[in-house]
Amino acid sequence: MAIKIVCLPGDGIGPEVTQSTIAVLKAVGEKFRIEFDIAEYPIGGIAIEQSGTPLPDQTLAACKEADAVFLGAIGGPQWENPEASVRPEQGLLKLRSELGVFSNIRPLKVFPSLISSSPLKPERLAGVDFVVVRELTGGIYFGERTRQDDYATDECRYSVGEVERIARVACEMAMQRNKRVTSVDKANVLETSRLWREVVTRVVKNEFPEINLEHQLVDSCAMKLIQQPAHFDVILTENMFGDILSDEASVLSGSMGLLASASIGDGVGLFEPIHGSAPDIAGLGIANPYASILSAAMMLRWLNLELAAKAVEDAVLDAIDNGTLTRDLTISNSMREASTKEATQAVLEAI
Ligand code: NAD
Ligand code: IPM
Ligand code: MN
Repeated sequence: MAIKIVCLPGDGIGPEVTQSTIAVLKAVGEKFRIEFDIAEYPIGGIAIEQSGTPLPDQTLAACKEADAVFLGAIGGPQWENPEASVRPEQGLLKLRSELGVFSNIRPLKVFPSLISSSPLKPERLAGVDFVVVRELTGGIYFGERTRQDDYATDECRYSVGEVERIARVACEMAMQRNKRVTSVDKANVLETSRLWREVVTRVVKNEFPEINLEHQLVDSCAMKLIQQPAHFDVILTENMFGDILSDEASVLSGSMGLLASASIGDGVGLFEPIHGSAPDIAGLGIANPYASILSAAMMLRWLNLELAAKAVEDAVLDAIDNGTLTRDLTISNSMREASTKEATQAVLEAI
């Protein structure tokens, strides 16, 4: 039976990178005789243009019925008017919430052949391999908002249950890795962080006694990510801290255009590169498609298609090792810049 996949290209470079990803899925499907039924639906700015809403009912319904969903990116300057009440980002947040994908897994690896693409010294990058486990459907992103002429508020709220379930995800992941969890909060200031710390400590003590847990404040964690990145194994954190720290962490690998993610809950999974719609390069055909393709590999693994997932990851690695690099990864003018199409072609050939 065909595997039903919903693709949400979105805005900016979203359609460019999802087009590459669909080509890769088709190729890997042929190789392993897996039938994918891929349907595209609008989300974000383009959906606002078409129907006045960033997450049309048909899009949401299709996502809920799919086996898996993958997203390009949403947003852009056209929809950034501060007065606007309808925004592309609301579509993505509502989708995450409706699908109940409370854990966002963002793995960070340093590809050996890309060490020179990173601004960090090579010796700091040795042994860097960690995962950010970001809580995705709670916190300040989903609290009540108010706006008056002279002030505004955003409520940050976490329940014990929300912290417990994401702590378990991080711990289960750590058990498959090096059994180290760094829980990141701002417990010296925030009440939600004090609750977070208490709950994480209890979950580890009662359910994962083998895990070596440390707590770290988010500000010094931001520093340590650059100073001593090899220290980390699993970073467990709340929604907004995870958003910020993972973009920071992407610099270690050389580009945001390499970082994939999986957003998982109890139902259908959503797979999304961590980057946005990159309005500064949209339409130029130079976006890095590897983050989106690697997100599809995470999707294949989640669908229990391990061989296909591995084939896609190996193909991206091959393309990188062959030096097929988009502009975000070429560090000197003497390096040849590949287009999105050429990078995709290199992956297809490796498959
Ligand atoms: P961004 O991630 O879009 O871009 C940041 C920088 O990284 C830009 O210079 C961009 O050119 C570069 N970049 C990002 N992805 C790249 C890729 N694949 N290849 C090459 N270069 C890449 O972040 P931003 O500029 O802060 O946000 C732009 C828009 O994207 C905003 O509207 C924001 O809300 C939205 N956004 C959406 C998502 C999402 O859909 N998941 C994620 C982040 C931001
Ligand atoms: C991300 C993005 C989103 C987030 C925005 C677009 C809502 O930055 O996926 O990392 O903050 O979660
Ligand atoms: Mn982000």
